[in-house]
Formats: sequence, C-alpha cells, structure tokens
Amino acid sequence: MLNTYLDHFLAPVVVLTGASSGIGHATALAFARAGAHLVLAARGPEALDKVAAECVLLDAQALAVPTDVTDADAMQALAHAAIGRFGRIDVWINNVGIGAVGAFDATPMEAHARVIAANLLGHMNGAHAVLPHFRQRGRGTLINMISSGGWVPAPYAAAYTASKFGLRGFSEALRAELGSLPDVHVCEVYPTFVDTPGLFHGANYTGKRLRPPPPVLDPRTVAHALVALSRAPRDVTAIGSVAIPGRLAHAVAPGLTARATRWLMDQALARADPAPVTNGNLFEPSRVHTIDGGYRTLAVRAMPVAAVALAGAVGLGILWAMRPRPRRPQDTRRMAARPRRAR
Ligand SMILES: NC(=O)c1ccc[n+]([C@@H]2O[C@H](COP(=O)([O-])OP(=O)(O)OC[C@H]3O[C@@H](n4cnc5c(N)ncnc54)[C@H](OP(=O)(O)O)[C@@H]3O)[C@@H](O)[C@H]2O)c1
Repeated sequence: MLNTYLDHFLAPVVVLTGASSGIGHATALAFARAGAHLVLAARGPEALDKVAAECVLLDAQALAVPTDVTDADAMQALAHAAIGRFGRIDVWINNVGIGAVGAFDATPMEAHARVIAANLLGHMNGAHAVLPHFRQRGRGTLINMISSGGWVPAPYAAAYTASKFGLRGFSEALRAELGSLPDVHVCEVYPTFVDTPGLFHGANYTGKRLRPPPPVLDPRTVAHALVALSRAPRDVTAIGSVAIPGRLAHAVAPGLTARATRWLMDQALARADPAPVTNGNLFEPSRVHTIDGGYRTLAVRAMPVAAVALAGAVGLGILWAMRPRPRRPQDTRRMAARPRRAR
C-alpha cells in the first residue's frame, strides 16, 4: 500500500509522441523498465494500445491517447489527459518524425507541407501544450527528437531537412527564452540513421527502394540515451559515431558536405531496386509497428562505401578550411602602414 502510494509520487511521468513504432516504441519500453508512468501518443489506436500493454507487462502504468501531433487542440488534450491521470508531467518527448523522399519539384507540395506540419509544427504544438504546466511547477524537461539531419542537409529530403534545421533553431530560441527557469530544460537529440521502420513508413517519390546507409544504430541505444537524458538533462545529445564528424564537416565546408551527401544518395538510388511511389504514413497511420527496421544486417555490405565517403568529406572539409588564402589588397596596405615594433 505504502509502496503504491510512494510510487505514484516518485515515478516520473513521461509523455511520449510517436510511441507506437521504432525509436518511440523502444523508448516506451525503456522508460517502463525504468519505472516511469507513461502517456503514449500516436495516430493508430490499435498499435498504441499494444505498446501500452507491453509497458504494463513491465509493471509500468501506461495510458494510450490516440493523437495527431499536427492538431494543436489534440495536443492540448494530450497534456490534460496526462495531468488528469497522473497529476503532473515531468518529461515531454516530442518524437514524431515523418519524411518524403524524392526530387523536391517531383514531390507533391502537400507532402512537403505535411512533413513540416508533423515534424516542426508537431513539436511546437507539444511545447505549447506542456510549457504552461512546466512554468507553473517551475520544473520539467522537454526533449525534442531531431536528427543528425538537423546538422547535415539531406538532398532529396528537403522538407525533412527544413523541419529538422527548423527544430534546431526552435529549440535554441526556446531554451534561451526559458533561461530564467533553471529547472525547465529544453533538450535536442541528434541520432544518425537508426534501424527502425521509419524509412519504410515514409513517402517515397523516387521510384526506388530506400534503405539507410550504414552505420545504423539500434533503436534501443537511442531509447537508453533518452532515459539518461530525462535524469540528467543537457542541451545537445549526439548519438552515433558519425554524428559529430558530420556536424563538423558541415560547419567547416557546408557546400562540399552537401555535395558529398548528394553523391552518396545518387549512387545508392542508381543501384536500388524499383519500388512503387507511395505517400506512406504522411496522411494515414503507419502500418508496421516493430522496433527494428531490419536494416542492420543489410547495412554491413555497404559499410565501406559510406565510411570512406564520409571520412573523405570530413577530410576534404578540413583541408578546405585550412587552405592558404591569398591576402586581400587592403590587408597588405594595412600591414604596410602598421609601424614595426622595436626589438
Ligand atoms: N530512423 C532514423 O534513421 C532516424 C534517425 C534520426 C532521427 N530520427 C527521428 O526519430 C523519430 C522517430 O523516428 P522512427 O524512425 O522511430 O519513426 P517510425 O518508426 O516511422 O515511427 C513514427 C511514429 O510516429 C507516429 N506518427 C507519425 N505521424 C504522426 C502524427 N501526425 N501524429 C502522431 N503520431 C505520428 C507513428 O504512428 P502513427 O503512424 O500511427 O501515427 C509512429 O508511432 C523521428 O523524429 C525521426 O525523424 C529517426
């Protein structure tokens, strides 16, 4: 009896969007094992109920609230449902992300708009719903799932890139705005490719079968990082061995890095098998709800190409930044006019 009472007050209350598949599914189970109370959101109710049931089997309390993150009112209702059931929210994880892969002008504008609505506005809807509660309590952690695609642009996924670059700016601005609340945290998470059904779920206008380039992460690695982050919040978390090299390469030589990424994508598409054009899960719930996408075994074969290309891009970027530059005429004039210091 006392244990149940204490558990109610001590277990962190976590709201998680995109909880029915991939990273979200793995994260729900990881928080359940860590003893959290969970409020799970996604559009498809059956898949969400199954994940909630898996959490209950792990002795967690879990509430499934079917929600479309693009609907601001539904996101407010999600926050109210969490507070109504558990009395508070400690951690809110904006995890939903969808994609539309294809040449920008061969991809319907409605698909681009939907990607921005789900990925960027969806996270903003979440923040808007939970921040008044965090302000009132003077504490709380908002975690925005971004992607290393928020540092390195992905050609043929321009809306996804725009949403993830936008999320980086949104998170930084929000954190600065909340600077006077030391116990309210805004955390950004940047994984590299993860082995989830995400790429299969997304819209594909290339006519080619897509698969993520290696190295691909185990979704459970990301889930554990999110649990750790909820306990010790920090501004930026990069996950995956190529996340920081990719960020550096783009910071040093953005044009070159983007061209290298496009070259990689062109090579992959040229070799890929044909696949039907699809709107995927943009406008309707996803069809697969496993944690894993099954790409890790496939990935090993392509590893050397991707690793060499990325290492090359980083190396070229650094060389480019360190190249000797001719002095501009006005610099030479200024140097000549500067009096020499007496020895
Ligand atoms: N997989 C990767 O390689 C990778 C790498 C870096 C970052 N990420 C990021 O990690 C996050 C999760 O990716 P994932 O690969 O795990 O995706 P996923 O397996 O496709 O799962 C997406 C989840 O979001 C839900 N969802 C989609 N649209 C929604 C909407 N409008 N409203 C509410 N829920 C919605 C889906 O359920 P319903 O369809 O039923 O709604 C599902 O639960 C995304 O933000 C993604 O950008 C992924």
